[in-house]
Amino acid sequence: MDRRNALKLMGASLAAVAMAGIAPKTHAAILKDRAKDKKRLIFYFTATGNSLFVARQFSDSPLSIPQELKKGKQTYEADEIGFVFPDYASGAPVIVQEFLAKNTFKAPYIFSIITFGNASAMVAEWVRDYAKEKGVNFNYINTILMVDNYLPVFDMNEQVKIDKHVDENLAKLLEDVGAQKNYVQAMVQEPGMPAFSKDMLKGMQDQHYNMTAERLLELKKDRCVECMTCEKVCPHKNFSLGNDGLQFAGKCEFCLACVHACPQKALTLKSMNPQWPGERNPEARYRNPNVSLMDIIKSNRQ
Ligand SMILES: Cc1cc2nc3c(=O)[nH]c(=O)nc-3n(C[C@H](O)[C@H](O)[C@H](O)COP(=O)(O)O)c2cc1C
Repeated sequence: MDRRNALKLMGASLAAVAMAGIAPKTHAAILKDRAKDKKRLIFYFTATGNSLFVARQFSDSPLSIPQELKKGKQTYEADEIGFVFPDYASGAPVIVQEFLAKNTFKAPYIFSIITFGNASAMVAEWVRDYAKEKGVNFNYINTILMVDNYLPVFDMNEQVKIDKHVDENLAKLLEDVGAQKNYVQAMVQEPGMPAFSKDMLKGMQDQHYNMTAERLLELKKDRCVECMTCEKVCPHKNFSLGNDGLQFAGKCEFCLACVHACPQKALTLKSMNPQWPGERNPEARYRNPNVSLMDIIKSNRQ
């Protein structure tokens, strides 16, 4: 075929694509396609959808940690294994810690993307050290700034207005993982914030990691319609219906899935001491706009 006919053919096929309405692939989609040559397992934990949204950029079918935990002790084997979850007080949620400790992960490349809302501090190093103790050696751990769902400090109506450059930052993470980069983010000191120390962050974790539902939550009875959405999104099944209406008790992840998901805004946080102010705005709740309530239920329901 001569050059003139080849160009004609190229033009015709481009026109056919345009007529069929096939959009050109985004960079993220190309990277995801490339990863399909490898067996990649992605595990995630989410309360308000940020981490599920990110997990879905790395795999079409990420696996929920609360659901996987039900299967008992497992050995997972793949070319690449990734973990996506929120930063809780510069550490991993307890349910993620349990998952890492309980199971065996075999892959030449193991990575983690941690979603955070304000200050990632030493979360990457913390996760690397914790996992190493449990026999999981990470090649790559990085963080991504998203809406901060921590109700004691942040007003969700204000948080959603802030442009946190999620798409640009995500593209960089996809590229790093696509290239199997080796990297663990070092402690990040935030300008204008007091210097973080390991002791200070450990103190914060102790407050968060030993929570119970009855210590954390308060119910506005006049608002509760007993729809049990709280029960459906709780990774610990802490809610039930008793003679006296909604009951809750038990080991709590402090993930706030129940509080954010309640359609009546009937659940709120207790004010425990002057350092613990309750909530910034009890009328403002959050769910990542790309994630449905059913997605959160399927992820966490016990
Ligand atoms: C108990 C708790 C502790 C948190 N601690 C931090 C923190 O130390 N630093 C930070 O930047 N964000 C912190 N966050 C915010 C979350 O990490 C962030 O909003 C995350 O993207 C939520 O993910 P999800 O939507 O998948 O649940 C905390 C949130 C909760 C509920």
